[in-house]
Amino acid sequence: MSNPIVHVDLGERAYDIVIEAGALADIGTRCVDLFGAGKRVLMVSDANVAKFYVSGTEALLLRAGFQVSVIVLPAGESTKCVARLAEIWEEAVEARLDRKSFIVALGGGVIGDLAGFAAASFLRGIPFVQVPTSLLAMVDSAVGGKTGMNLPQGKNLVGAFHQPQMVLSDLSVLATLPARELHAGMAEVIKYGVIWDPEMFSFIESHVAEIKALDSEALHYLVKRSCEIKADVVRQDEREGGLRAILNFGHTLGHAIENVCGYGEWLHGEAIAMGMVYAAKISEVAHGFKADETDRLIALFKAFDLPVSWQGLEWGALYQAMTADKKAENALPKFVLAKEMGKVGLPEEVGMELLKKVYDDGA
Ligand code: NAD
Ligand code: GLY
Repeated sequence: MSNPIVHVDLGERAYDIVIEAGALADIGTRCVDLFGAGKRVLMVSDANVAKFYVSGTEALLLRAGFQVSVIVLPAGESTKCVARLAEIWEEAVEARLDRKSFIVALGGGVIGDLAGFAAASFLRGIPFVQVPTSLLAMVDSAVGGKTGMNLPQGKNLVGAFHQPQMVLSDLSVLATLPARELHAGMAEVIKYGVIWDPEMFSFIESHVAEIKALDSEALHYLVKRSCEIKADVVRQDEREGGLRAILNFGHTLGHAIENVCGYGEWLHGEAIAMGMVYAAKISEVAHGFKADETDRLIALFKAFDLPVSWQGLEWGALYQAMTADKKAENALPKFVLAKEMGKVGLPEEVGMELLKKVYDDGA
């Protein structure tokens, strides 16, 4: 198997992403190398993930000489809230965490974002390790240092940039991830193909069955390549002053769909799959993106049972949500648009007539 490490080159905030089936077995020794033995550690997880991985991971950390506390929160997006954050802070006080202690976020993007924000804020910032267990978390949320939580008024309204000390992605944990979640994660992987890497896009087209069957070489290639791309983007623009915004391809309509339908009806990856088709169709008109390429995108999403059509979603509500999005300036929604497969531009405003026409034409 090829090199398991992707280095995120951020100077004094640099860290490694370890991508390997079985990587979790080394968590104790890797954390000793990073933090020194004997430190206090608070592991945060959710109830679904805990069923499979909490006691084993706790045992590994104890065996490595750490003083371990554990908090298990309910699974789901609603956990990313101030009340659950306060529970983590309280547990951190109870466990007597100090500035040399660290947090381990063992779970999907919900746990990674919330535990990461707890680490960013407790004692004005303590170190943390991301152990992503969903495909989406492995290829996106665990990498790049965005942490945060939701308010009743909207998603991710409170947060901080706080890079982890390590990301430990054990591909074998994907065996217990529900297929629908795996496919939603694939939407983000496919996104990297469209914005950056047409070769990876072609690879996915020709390996759908292997990916669905969790073929370890295919998964290793996809997770590693996605992390390399995200690491490259984040290295160039850690705080989203410019380039990092290309990671939002498909997200303008995607966020609007999540907003209008309520979080829970569509998974994030499903919403952005629809959003990417919408953005590709706008790109055809605005930048001459080839209709054949949009067709490839639609076919690939369908192969992973992802939705591609916004039919049935009401235009007025979607448009209002798109203009209310925090990325919209002057009330005109902004979109990352594709020029060709593997190449996109920075977000740009798109006029209402074109947006409505593409909406009416459908997918
Ligand atoms: P999630 O954390 O809710 O995980 C999805 C579901 O899968 C949950 O029910 C979880 O319990 C379960 N699960 C996770 N791993 C499992 C495993 N190995 N076995 C069995 N069940 C498992 O959702 P997600 O899709 O991982 O992440 C979505 C969150 O990530 C959102 O809150 C989103 O805002 C955030 N996000 C953050 C960033 C970022 O840059 N920080 C980027 C993208 C998304
Ligand atoms: N998920 C987008 C980002 O990390 O910037």
